[in-house]
Amino acid sequence: MLKSLLALLSLSAALLAGPAGAAVEDQIAARLQPAGTVCVFGQACAQGLKVPGAPTGPKAPEDVYNTYCQACHATGVNNSPILGNAEAWAPRIAKGIDALYESGINGYNNGAMPPRGTCVDCTDDEIKATVDYMAAAVAQ
Ligand code: HEC
Repeated sequence: MLKSLLALLSLSAALLAGPAGAAVEDQIAARLQPAGTVCVFGQACAQGLKVPGAPTGPKAPEDVYNTYCQACHATGVNNSPILGNAEAWAPRIAKGIDALYESGINGYNNGAMPPRGTCVDCTDDEIKATVDYMAAAVAQ
């Protein structure tokens, strides 16, 4: 009686280990999957994926100023001309807007004014528009 009971037990254990064991292995494999997959912009897997920060059009000058330029130009770090301060801007405006574009794009005074004001992904036109925005703040 005990022998046949044991035989029955081991038979059912063997049966369970078959398909049920495979299912458990699948579950374990699923749990061992990396938490995320890397999709590179431009790859098929990334179609329809919105990449944060991907260009969607020209950046608004005010946004560029607020994000990059104001760190220095709101407070006057290293004598940076403060936005709206006519006295500080007068000698710069006097150089002509093209000179200011040049300083904005390539930097000025050995990097005291950093190239592109640290907005490395700003286009020339976006920097020019931001310089216009800063110049307009002191225009009468
Ligand atoms: C790390 C600080 C810093 C940041 C950020 C910065 N600037 Fe400046 N900027 C300066 C300083 C300092 C000067 C003055 C340099 C001098 O005259 O010695 C200056 C000067 C300028 C001038 C006048 C240059 C000239 O020829 O007289 C312009 C235009 C200008 N910045 C535009 C910008 C714009 C646009 C941004 C943002 C996209 C920006 N700056 C971000 C520090 C900064």
